[in-house]
Amino acid sequence: MAAPTFRAPKGTRDILPPESARRRALVDRFAAAAALSGFGELVSPIFEDLGVFQRIGEATDVVTKEMFDFFDKGDPPQHLALRPELTASVCRAFAEHRPVAPWKVWYEGPQFRYEQPQAGRYRQFTQVGVEVLGTDDPQADVDVIALAARFFESIGLGRVHLSINSLGDATCRPAYLDALTAHFHEHHDRLSAQSQVTLERNPLRVLDSKRPQDQEIIDAAPVMVDFLGADTGAHFDAVRAGLDSLGIGYDISPRLVRGLDYYTRTTFEFAADALESAQNAVGGGGRYDGLVEDLGGPPTPGIGFALGVDRILLACDAEEAFAPPRTAVSVFVVDVTGGGRALDVCERLRGVGIGADRSYGGRSMKAQMKVADRSGARFAVIIGEDEVAAGEVTLRDLRGDGGQRRVAADALVDEVRPPTPLSTIDEDT
Ligand code: HAM
Repeated sequence: MAAPTFRAPKGTRDILPPESARRRALVDRFAAAAALSGFGELVSPIFEDLGVFQRIGEATDVVTKEMFDFFDKGDPPQHLALRPELTASVCRAFAEHRPVAPWKVWYEGPQFRYEQPQAGRYRQFTQVGVEVLGTDDPQADVDVIALAARFFESIGLGRVHLSINSLGDATCRPAYLDALTAHFHEHHDRLSAQSQVTLERNPLRVLDSKRPQDQEIIDAAPVMVDFLGADTGAHFDAVRAGLDSLGIGYDISPRLVRGLDYYTRTTFEFAADALESAQNAVGGGGRYDGLVEDLGGPPTPGIGFALGVDRILLACDAEEAFAPPRTAVSVFVVDVTGGGRALDVCERLRGVGIGADRSYGGRSMKAQMKVADRSGARFAVIIGEDEVAAGEVTLRDLRGDGGQRRVAADALVDEVRPPTPLSTIDEDT
């Protein structure tokens, strides 16, 4: 009987070299940017108690429709879920460990949402992000938004625009919700059937509807920024003034409500104009001043964002930005004496930090040189019986003029070692 064939599950993908190297470089670039702004990395579990994620909002699609939840084998079994995002996990970790505030952490990793897969929308996708817990200073909002804006710029993405909004807080949002609910009830019969159901659970979510039938009613709906109280209004003004002072461009988008329920005050989204509008959000975030408390911690304001790595790379493709890094080894060892010498030479080079590779299976010189050429290595080191007898190797330049010369086997490391860049020379030496 033929063995069954398997494919990666729907909505998931294998990421092969060299694309995987490009993704790694992107995450490393983000890590460096976050470190420059004083963030340390938080590594948290990929699954948590389902209750942690239920705090994202009982009326959100992420919680009601998209959770990968399961029971473990415990007695009694625990109801767990693969994380759909990381903000709730960060707040759970803060409530558990009570670190000194403000606590500034960055993260990266896979997230899981049971969505209808399409280009740029997956069931497993990768986010990078930051969270700042323990301050409600609007300058923290500005710092966080600036970090994301600078990151997009640093990877060469030009066509990304920032939208911001304020969703108010517990003091001013109820009046807005009343006005919004009254508006939607007034036009109830013209709303789509789905929006009529959403209205009963969370009127804010109706603003998220992309259904054409709802658009006219949404466009005429009252907006939160007209309902901001003195404090939330001043906070929003300070965020805008900070962005202006840094020269970061943005639109105010009064209907930006985001897909998660924990937001208060500042919310924002980055959209890539190079992508289809249904999947053009390359990142988003905002304040969630009640979430830590909802997860059993002390009252602690928070602000952060997450960026979608998969979508950023799609936008980079469309803008021809952020090419894969060169990942070739420096040296390819061609050993026509049986292969044992390639084993030694590769280990010696790798031991001093010089990338080295080789062929296997005792192939002909011609076949090995073909692989060497394809490898992208700078040098081929050729070892034949002649070289062995002389205590030498042949060093061939694979990128320049293709010239070759004999060098003493003992001197090989110095011959192929790349020159030390000036910037890495320690000032004290
Ligand atoms: P989010 O808007 O749900 O926010 O996700 C952030 C980003 O993750 C999106 O802008 C998008 O680029 C990417 N993303 C989301 N779902 C998918 C998917 N199915 N496939 C591919 N990419 C996707 C959050 O997750 C919040 N935790 C952000 C945050 C942090 N708010 C405050 N702090």
